[in-house]
Amino acid sequence: MRSLRTTALTAVAASTLAATLTGVTLAGTSSPAEAATAPDLSVTNVTVHLQKLQDIATANGGNRATGRPGYKASLDWVKAKLDAVGYTTAVQSFSTSSGTSYNLVADWPGGDPEHVVMTGAHLDSVSAGAGINDNGTGSAAVLEAALQWAASGNTSRNHLRFAWWGAEEQGLLGSNKYMSLLPTADKDRIDLYMNYDMVGSPNPGYFVYDDNAVGNFARDAMAAYYTSKGIPWEYIDVQGRSDHASFRSYGIATTGMYSGGETIKTSAQASKWGGTAGAAFDACYHRSCDTIANINATALDRNIDMIGHMVWLYADKDFGTTAPPPGGANLLANPGFESGATGWAGTTGAITTSTSRPARTGSWKAWLGGNGTTSTENLSQQVTIPSTASAASLSYWIRTDTAETGTTAYDTMKVQVVSGTTTTTLKTFSNVGTSATYAQFSHSLLAYRGTTITVRFLMNEDSSLQTSFVVDDTAVTTS
Ligand code: PHE
Ligand code: ZN
Ligand code: ZN
Repeated sequence: MRSLRTTALTAVAASTLAATLTGVTLAGTSSPAEAATAPDLSVTNVTVHLQKLQDIATANGGNRATGRPGYKASLDWVKAKLDAVGYTTAVQSFSTSSGTSYNLVADWPGGDPEHVVMTGAHLDSVSAGAGINDNGTGSAAVLEAALQWAASGNTSRNHLRFAWWGAEEQGLLGSNKYMSLLPTADKDRIDLYMNYDMVGSPNPGYFVYDDNAVGNFARDAMAAYYTSKGIPWEYIDVQGRSDHASFRSYGIATTGMYSGGETIKTSAQASKWGGTAGAAFDACYHRSCDTIANINATALDRNIDMIGHMVWLYADKDFGTTAPPPGGANLLANPGFESGATGWAGTTGAITTSTSRPARTGSWKAWLGGNGTTSTENLSQQVTIPSTASAASLSYWIRTDTAETGTTAYDTMKVQVVSGTTTTTLKTFSNVGTSATYAQFSHSLLAYRGTTITVRFLMNEDSSLQTSFVVDDTAVTTS
């Protein structure tokens, strides 16, 4: 059965599955309060997106510029990808002296609406060429991060919004238009805007934006990420030359990354980054040769992973005012299972003091799975999220171990919310990426304020080779 199931997967389904599995990696020894670790974003996927943008340019007179058909075709394609995975998308049109242009804004449902984290890139090219490094790279990277966020099943603390700007090349027109039309209260809800404009330059540098209006926290996190990967970086004052400037001028915290354009790489920069000293970072900048061939795959690969890291990091960043207080009242009954089955419905025999698996605290825990036979188990509890809550979250500790091998998810445990007739999976654990060290996960429940929901742990094991999902110290807290 197992090999049949594997061979039945199409190439597309297999890559989707692989992407999903990447997202289930346990937090383990890293930051246990973080809801999820960012996946390694696929440079293959991003290259496929870039080829699509190249094809769109080729089919539309060689460019994707404002007022030309290749721009709208690019926007329609990105929008369709996002719509297909559950984003709420909006297209904002505006006129320019080069013709009509459009912004595309995509919101991921959920997260605290009072704390919005935005990631954006301009989607337009200059009229001279296809604009694959400038700015197919930023556009494709932000698209892939958004798609993988959707595939991860994560729920974010903050509300996530992604944007693709029109008419950047005419002078940041799209991002300026967005900000000029956004009501003041909504501007004030944006805690961070991150901008990616040219992230795969052929003779690359690694430049972290250093022209922030308020706070350097995201700049510092980006630099720390590169350092942790052994990638040298430099700060750059980009002098407001990209769309973050529209946010910065309103006083919103910004950061961004730039792999270099028309300026010349020095010999000092070539010795730390490799590449060619005395040549431009991107000799095809704003030229017809900015095609699919004008990309450094290593720089692109490193930078998309950085972009994923930043999205995942700030998705769950505590921006302060509405965070649930540590030790806030727990709305779940018997959350640590120390009273046995009390309060829980479902396969309550899974609640146990067996010493074959340790409890995290006390002696009881919920041991789902571990059978090595075809089985389904679940534990659930109803909880009402007060309508007055400004924050609400579900958290739990989990340890996993398995007799399975390989990268196929044979056995799974889903963390779900049932609301009316709708079931939402917040997180899927599997036999892939198990960790026998307890780690804590948390997911926002703010989308359910004012409603009664069922929190559920749902385990499915296949016919052989056990996987144990051991859950302890659950909590639903609000503030
Ligand atoms: N915004 C510039 C363009 O699209 C590129 C750029 C990005 C320049 C960041 C400097 C810093 O042409
Ligand atoms: Zn440009
Ligand atoms: Zn650009």
